[in-house]
Amino acid sequence: MMKQKIEDLDWNNLGFEYRDLPYRYEAKYKDGEWQEGKLVEDSTVTLSEGAEVLHYGQEIFEGLKAYRRKDGKINLFRPDQNAHRFALSAERLAMPPYPEDKFVEAVKQVVLANKEYVPPYDSGATLYVRPFMIGTSQALGVAAATEYTLRIFATPVGAYIKGLNPAAYKVSPYDRAAYAGTGQAKTSGNYASSLLPSVEAHKEGFADCLYLDPREHKYVDEFGGANFFGITQEGQFVTPKSESILISITKKSLLEVAKRQGLNPVERQITLEEAFNMKEAGAMGTAAVISPVGSITYNDQKHVIYSEDKTGPVTTKLYNELIAIQYGDKTGPEGWVQTID
Ligand SMILES: Cc1ncc(COP(=O)(O)O)c(C=O)c1O
Repeated sequence: MMKQKIEDLDWNNLGFEYRDLPYRYEAKYKDGEWQEGKLVEDSTVTLSEGAEVLHYGQEIFEGLKAYRRKDGKINLFRPDQNAHRFALSAERLAMPPYPEDKFVEAVKQVVLANKEYVPPYDSGATLYVRPFMIGTSQALGVAAATEYTLRIFATPVGAYIKGLNPAAYKVSPYDRAAYAGTGQAKTSGNYASSLLPSVEAHKEGFADCLYLDPREHKYVDEFGGANFFGITQEGQFVTPKSESILISITKKSLLEVAKRQGLNPVERQITLEEAFNMKEAGAMGTAAVISPVGSITYNDQKHVIYSEDKTGPVTTKLYNELIAIQYGDKTGPEGWVQTID
């Protein structure tokens, strides 16, 4: 594969796609322990046809971003949280957890090694970092692998769902609870079961699906790639409490930002009917940042939330404060931002 040339990048129109940068980190697990990892240049992974990941999908991943600050340095946003969730995901899929401090160190190494690919401040673009782990040893019977590869690559990305433009969402006719084959989606890996609903939603012109709780199909769970929040008619920030959604780091952070802004945030069950009647609503996640929800369509009936072409004031204020903290324009709570250069 051709390495990405820096001069070919248009920082303002990057999209959200894989690009082959000069360096990635690789560590291998063998004989019951993690070997010392290192930066490597080769972007290809060679596997046996019998590799566990190819048959039983033993794979987990994370996603976080590096932000170019106004002073030219680089910020990481809560990488310790990704390290922790990665370890939880590993545990759930019977994989050996990667030490959390080493994870953060490795992420920093990848960002620094590719630092000229961290997009300029003000471009709206960031360097997306994708750590993942796969079971590589051969497995014919269903059993956990004995050998694993961890890789961390990075790629410059624009906004996943552009800026603060409201998007249309559709309630998924499928359960999404089969992530990672676990029946619950708290951990992050193997999204294959969400591909069909997402392909169908995109074909129909929607930005993403909104999934309902798998037990009663009554409560809002989350979007295909982001958590849900709403602002009630009384002005309260509400977000679903559910056992079957990903523990979003953006959600955790926005709960604190919302508290600072006096929005009295709460995590609780939210019925679909209630979601339709929110004053404002949004999708929140590392890739989505905050993407305003313009409408939710359910059984061919569209419910507009706030506006299909304007973003509400509460959502705008939350977005502005979150990105100001991420880019280092504003000081966030202790430990949220790690600056490297
Ligand atoms: C299904 C799902 N929910 C929520 C999120 C948001 O999580 P985070 O804020 O940690 O990126 C993501 C990833 O961005 C996701 O894939």
